[in-house]
Amino acid sequence: MDVFKVSGNGPLNGEIAVGGAKNAALPILAATLLTEETVTLKNVPDLSDMRFMTEILRHVGAETVQPEPGTWEITAKKLTHVAPYELVRKMRASVCLLGPLVARMRKAEVSIPGGCVIGPRPIDLHIKGLKKLSCEVEISNGYVHVDASNIKGGPIFLGGRSGSTVTGTANIVMAAVLAPGTTRLECAACEPEVVDLCNLLVKMGAKIEGIGSPELTITGVEKLHGAEHSVIADRIEAGTFVVAGAITRGDVTVKGIAPSLLGAFLDKLEEAGLPMELGEDYIRVLPYEGSLKPVDVITLPHPGYPTDLQAQLGALMTQTEGLSIITERIYPNRFMHVPELQRMGADIAIEGPSAIIKGASKLSGAPVMASDLRASAALILAAFAATGDTWIQRIYHLDRGYERFEQKLTAIGAKIERLKDTDMPKELLEE
Ligand code: EPZ
Repeated sequence: MDVFKVSGNGPLNGEIAVGGAKNAALPILAATLLTEETVTLKNVPDLSDMRFMTEILRHVGAETVQPEPGTWEITAKKLTHVAPYELVRKMRASVCLLGPLVARMRKAEVSIPGGCVIGPRPIDLHIKGLKKLSCEVEISNGYVHVDASNIKGGPIFLGGRSGSTVTGTANIVMAAVLAPGTTRLECAACEPEVVDLCNLLVKMGAKIEGIGSPELTITGVEKLHGAEHSVIADRIEAGTFVVAGAITRGDVTVKGIAPSLLGAFLDKLEEAGLPMELGEDYIRVLPYEGSLKPVDVITLPHPGYPTDLQAQLGALMTQTEGLSIITERIYPNRFMHVPELQRMGADIAIEGPSAIIKGASKLSGAPVMASDLRASAALILAAFAATGDTWIQRIYHLDRGYERFEQKLTAIGAKIERLKDTDMPKELLEE
């Protein structure tokens, strides 16, 4: 098993480029099933999640060609309507196959995705949306069975107790674009990744109004045609790099990202007093003396503060004097990184859905365990600010969402090495 050995070091300095957004590329790959013509996708990040998704597309019958790194040509001529458990269980985002299979095949059998460490991952809203499109939906043997022979557009309110659903919105939009009639979708997710999906669907001939707003109006069409599309930049990867610059007090320019995709995040960092220079397609973090100011933040659906940047901000706040409060409203137990940060010396108390972080704490390197994608990133960021070496295990979580993470960070001065767990000092393994 791979591990990262991260040594605390001084300021990171230089330019670091952002790749394509994982959470846009996943539903967009599923959307290629909506037409029998070829869809060419560019700026698709090279991540294990992408390999899983393209494997599932091939399983249901699509032809996938990768003419060059980052580019995929997908042609879904003949499809089957079943997405099996052994594939879906590897990645819950494969639930995004439901919408396209329902739209194209008028039926679907998709295994229900498992939960994950950040909490239960229900799909009740996805099912509610399909039923509102006059689909027959039944759950049995761990599969969602959908009969969409009478599918037709209709009014749908898709909000749940935590507000909108990102992949739920993606699924219902993809089901509705080929459904006769008009669908008015209220409380739709407004995340930039959903906007990117809708922009591709419109390029393919779909009729969608209100893109980027919580109210979408979709007019069904007979067929969709092929298109070419470049996936938007990954705002979560960008935010992670911004924190890497901030936590090491470096001078880091994160390139290839429009600051407008990170409104709430940058607003919070400005409130903390982090000096930044914002350009059209870059965010530059500047060095600072003394401490940032503590913050009080609540994660919310877009345009609120993104839950996927919650753990990274928490790592930064361990180095900030005063009390910061981070409240997680999307996944209440998305604090698996906290016990690991405490092992490194962080002073954090969990009170219900909130983490109360008392900074600044002196962090020292320790063997720690990654638990989910964004928690892994937070541990690495904390390790940059720690004295000594931190060994981060189970970094396969990280490989799901960050492409060439250690190479990109090493290039701006980070001391991060990908090794094997057998390389860990024996005394650490005995712990
Ligand atoms: C997407 O997950 C992202 N994944 C997640 O990123 C992200 O954290 C999440 O949106 C929130 O922004 C992808 O896009 C592949 P939701 P998704 O449906 O769509 C509840 C990462 O680190 N809910 O918006 O699964 C749910 O429990 C990953 O890149 C229902 O109750 O999230 C949660 O509390 C982690 N019923 C809230 O809504 C449903 O049917 C938001 O979930 C669906 C969701």
